[in-house]
Amino acid sequence: MDNSSKSESNRMSQNDIANGTVIAVHGVRKTYQKGDVEVTPLDGADLEVATGEFLALMGPSGSGKSTLLNLVAGIDKATAGRVVVAGEDITDWDEDRLADWRTRTIGYVFQQFNLMPVLTAYENVELPLLLLPLSRTKRRKLVTTALELVELSDRGKHYPRQLSGGQEQRVAIARAIATDPKIVLADEPTGNLDRASADGVMELLASLNSRFEKTIVLVTHDAAVASRAKRILHLDKGVLVEMDSSLQGVQV
Ligand SMILES: Nc1ncnc2c1ncn2[C@@H]1O[C@H](COP(=O)(O)OP(=O)(O)OP(=O)(O)O)[C@@H](O)[C@H]1O
Ligand SMILES: [Mg+2]
Repeated sequence: MDNSSKSESNRMSQNDIANGTVIAVHGVRKTYQKGDVEVTPLDGADLEVATGEFLALMGPSGSGKSTLLNLVAGIDKATAGRVVVAGEDITDWDEDRLADWRTRTIGYVFQQFNLMPVLTAYENVELPLLLLPLSRTKRRKLVTTALELVELSDRGKHYPRQLSGGQEQRVAIARAIATDPKIVLADEPTGNLDRASADGVMELLASLNSRFEKTIVLVTHDAAVASRAKRILHLDKGVLVEMDSSLQGVQV
């Protein structure tokens, strides 16, 4: 980064903090090249998420929703534009710096739960904590608290295959919040669940937002799920647009 873009990015992160903005995506373009085929799911996307917001992101399959979450988590890199998260301009960070920062700042919840099958629920929740310099006692306390929060204290010794889908997702949420991250990113967290389990997961996310002030960005195809969020944005042709309220309730 040259000096002028450095000071520009500094200015942006200072402004973002002052505005209470915890996620700021500025003019982001993302292009994937697969052989001869170039795909540009994000093309000048802007997004600002305030601290403590609960935002739902909708849009057709392939519109770039997961790509956007991955950029915010520093899992993927933007082709152009800047990504400022929790007061840090992470756009040009290397993987080591991102990995450490991500463990402390971002909790990620996936549609397929992504639990390790050979580890118990307790051990799955403990995994991200092993990356931090914590004593065993402190770790045990954090795992116990996270499992209590998702109401699965009695399932710590169960393996994922011994849990229902809804319980697996609640373990995955416990894992996502064990390090007490500011931000929870959830990519279709209810996509594999029946309605009752989906409601349970949404209750949990809503309470993480209201009781613990976690900023939540949730991707979903389900209008009923999105309606639990305080704001809905739609990804359309590479940019984010406010969801027209007349369209709410329509399945996309
Ligand atoms: N690693 C990659 N390499 C090449 N193309 C990719 C890669 N990841 C995503 N894409 C392409 O980018 C576009 C956006 O993908 P993305 O997964 O972000 O969509 P999405 O909105 O999350 O879709 P869905 O609702 O189906 O999950 C798609 O056309 C996809 O094929
Ligand atoms: Mg996706």
